[in-house]
Amino acid sequence: MKILLIGSGGRENALAWKIIQSKHLTQLFVTPGNAGTGNIAINIEFVPYSFESIGKFVIANKIDMVVVGPEEPLVKGLVDFFASSEKLRSVPVIGPSKTGAMLEGSKAFAKDFMMKYGIPTARYFRVNASNRTEASAFLQSLSSPYVIKADGLAAGKGVVIVNTLQEAENEIDAMLQGKFGQAGKEVVIEEFMKGIELSVFVATDGKSYVLLPEAKDYKRVGEGDTGPNTGGMGAVSPVPFATPDFMQKVENKIIKPTIAGLQQEGIDYKGFIFFGLMKVGDEPYVVEYNARLGDPETEVIIPRIKSDILELFLAIANQTLDSYQLEVDRRTAATVMLVSKGYPGHYEKGFEINNLENVKGSIVFHAGTTFHNGRTVTSGGRVISITSLGESMKEALELSYKNAEIIDFQGKYYRRDIGFDL
Ligand code: AMP
Ligand code: GLY
Repeated sequence: MKILLIGSGGRENALAWKIIQSKHLTQLFVTPGNAGTGNIAINIEFVPYSFESIGKFVIANKIDMVVVGPEEPLVKGLVDFFASSEKLRSVPVIGPSKTGAMLEGSKAFAKDFMMKYGIPTARYFRVNASNRTEASAFLQSLSSPYVIKADGLAAGKGVVIVNTLQEAENEIDAMLQGKFGQAGKEVVIEEFMKGIELSVFVATDGKSYVLLPEAKDYKRVGEGDTGPNTGGMGAVSPVPFATPDFMQKVENKIIKPTIAGLQQEGIDYKGFIFFGLMKVGDEPYVVEYNARLGDPETEVIIPRIKSDILELFLAIANQTLDSYQLEVDRRTAATVMLVSKGYPGHYEKGFEINNLENVKGSIVFHAGTTFHNGRTVTSGGRVISITSLGESMKEALELSYKNAEIIDFQGKYYRRDIGFDL
C-alpha cells in the first residue's frame, strides 16, 4: 500500500514509525512532515497547501490511503472533499467527515450531542450576542471557578478558567467581541469539574470501535503542573487509576453512547475519537472530544500497539472493526518532550540538534525539527519526544531522562517530573 500521512508533529512521527513497520506498506509519504519523518519516509510539501493539491497528488501517485494526524483538515472537510470527487471517492481517508469533526470543531455542538445522548459532562450554557443576559443568570447558578470556552478552534487557547464572576463576565464579552475571532462568536460556559484528567482513545468505523491504550499527558510547562498550558510536555501509558472497573464505566457511559449517537445522527466517522476525560471521584466525565489522536499521547500509545497498524486502518476503512482484535504491549510507555526555551511563549528556532545518534534504548520522535544545510535543527516549540518502554513507569522514565540528557540543542528544556502524580 502507498500511504499519504498528513501532519508534522511528534504524533505524525510516531504514526510514520509504526506505518513503516507494516508488512502492507510499499511507500509512505508525509506532508509536510519533519526531519524525523524525512529520515524514514518521503516528506512532501504542497505549495499552496490545498485539498485540491492533496487530491492531485493522491491520483498521480496512486495513493491507497490517506491518514490524517491533526484536526484542521478534518474540521475543514477533507473527508467530504474526497467523498465528493469521482476520482478520490475510492481512496479511504482515516479521519471523520466534517460533521463528525465538529465534535472537536464546535464545543457547543459537542455539548449538545452529549446532552442528547446522556453522556456525562459538565453542566453548560451556550451564549451568543442574542442571549447574553441569560448567561449571567447561568453564571450565578455556578460556584467559582468558572470555565469559559470559545466554541470554535482557537489554537488550544480558547479555554479560560477564572475565579470571579466579574472576570467570567469580562471573558465572555471579550470572546463575543472577537478575542478569538470567529471561534468566539459563540461561547460555552461550563461548570468546573474537580478531578484528575486522562485521555482515552478509540478507533471507530462508525459502527464498532476498538479501545486503544489510554494515556495521561502533562499540559503545563512547569514542574508540579504549574505555569501556562502547552501542547503537552510528556505522557504516560497505561494510566494506573484507569482500572478495569473505571474503564468499564468509560465504555458503558461514554464510548458506547457516543458511537451510538454518531450512528443515530447519520454521521460518517471512520477515524479516531479522543475522549478528554475527568475522573471525578470514581466517575468519568467528558471534558472534550477530539477528532484525532493526541500529541504527545500518540508517542506513548503507538509504541504499545503490537498489531500491524495498516491492518487496523484497513478494518476502519472497510468497516470490519467488529471482528478486529488489537494486540497491546502490557509494558509502560513514557515520553518526555524536549522543548525550546521560552515555549509556549516566544522562542528561537534554527538551533542544531546534536547527539541524536547516541540515544540508546529509547525511541526518538521528532516534533518541531527540520533539515537545514544537511543538519537537523529546531523549528518549533516542542522539538523532540523521547519515548521508552519499561516494566514499570519508573524504568521507562529513567531511560527517557537518560537520553534527554544526551540529546543536545541550545535552549533545551524539559519537565523532570513526568508521572509525578501517578
Ligand atoms: P478543553 O480544550 O475543552 O479540553 O479544555 C482545556 C483544559 O481546560 C482541559 O484539559 C481541562 O484541564 C480544563 N477544563 C476544561 N473544561 C473544564 C471543566 N468543565 N472543568 C474543569 N476543567 C476544565
Ligand atoms: N495532548 C492533548 C491534545 O493532543 O490535545
